[in-house]
Amino acid sequence: MMKKAMILSGAGLSAESGIRTFRDNDGLWEEYDVMKVCSVQGWEEDRKLVTQFYNDRRKDLADKKPNPAHFALARLEKRFPGQIWNLTQNVDDLLERAGCENVIHLHGTLRDLRCEACGHVWDIGFRAQREDESCPSCGGRNVRHNVVMFGEPAPAYRFIQKAIDESDLFVAIGTSGQVIDIVSIATEFANSILVNPNREMYVTMFGSHERYIDEYFETYIRKKAGEAAAELEERIARFLK
Ligand code: APR
Repeated sequence: MMKKAMILSGAGLSAESGIRTFRDNDGLWEEYDVMKVCSVQGWEEDRKLVTQFYNDRRKDLADKKPNPAHFALARLEKRFPGQIWNLTQNVDDLLERAGCENVIHLHGTLRDLRCEACGHVWDIGFRAQREDESCPSCGGRNVRHNVVMFGEPAPAYRFIQKAIDESDLFVAIGTSGQVIDIVSIATEFANSILVNPNREMYVTMFGSHERYIDEYFETYIRKKAGEAAAELEERIARFLK
């Protein structure tokens, strides 16, 4: 039976590419009020502010490059077709630019806009969304960023349980687990790998579990994603062979 790996990445995967994480000391949510720029309520209150926030993040992405961790995932995807669920919370396109073709963006994509009338999604690259932007499909003017905000559904989450059910190995790279509970997923696997340079306590809305997140994983690589890339690629390849 073909073995499968469920890989779930977060902002830490792109940190060495120069893209800020959210909850680290210099994280985005230290500078911006997440409820103002990444929530349905904030969107309803000030669409211009939110659109500018995503225009700024999209523009910032233009000169960023994939790091060794992105390339390692692209090589694994090519080497083990059909055996890897490549799920990311990241909205950047660095996995695609590294050569990945089957990325599932759980929180949407920064380069795309979405029409609120017909649902059409299209890639505008790194440019700003124009004031007069209209949907290329229906011509509608009700256009928005294609990033999932707090308070709205994340349709791609339907793949998480499917990936859990089908996979034999769980790999969590560069995520605090504050939005997607990587510990609850890891407990469903006999084989699991965590990649994170920082040891973090397992804290949920119910409080602290007084244990480190890495204690729930079979293997803990306490390194940055880019530095761990070769070891991680070797471990996953050995498992999937
Ligand atoms: N390599 C690996 N991990 C790293 C690196 C690195 N170079 N640098 C930082 N990290 C780790 C941090 O220790 C932290 O655990 O990456 C994690 C980043 O956590 P967050 O900033 O919370 O990002 P993420 O887990 O992706 O956030 C999830 O929250 O705001 C929402 O939608 C947003 O998708 C995002 C979600």
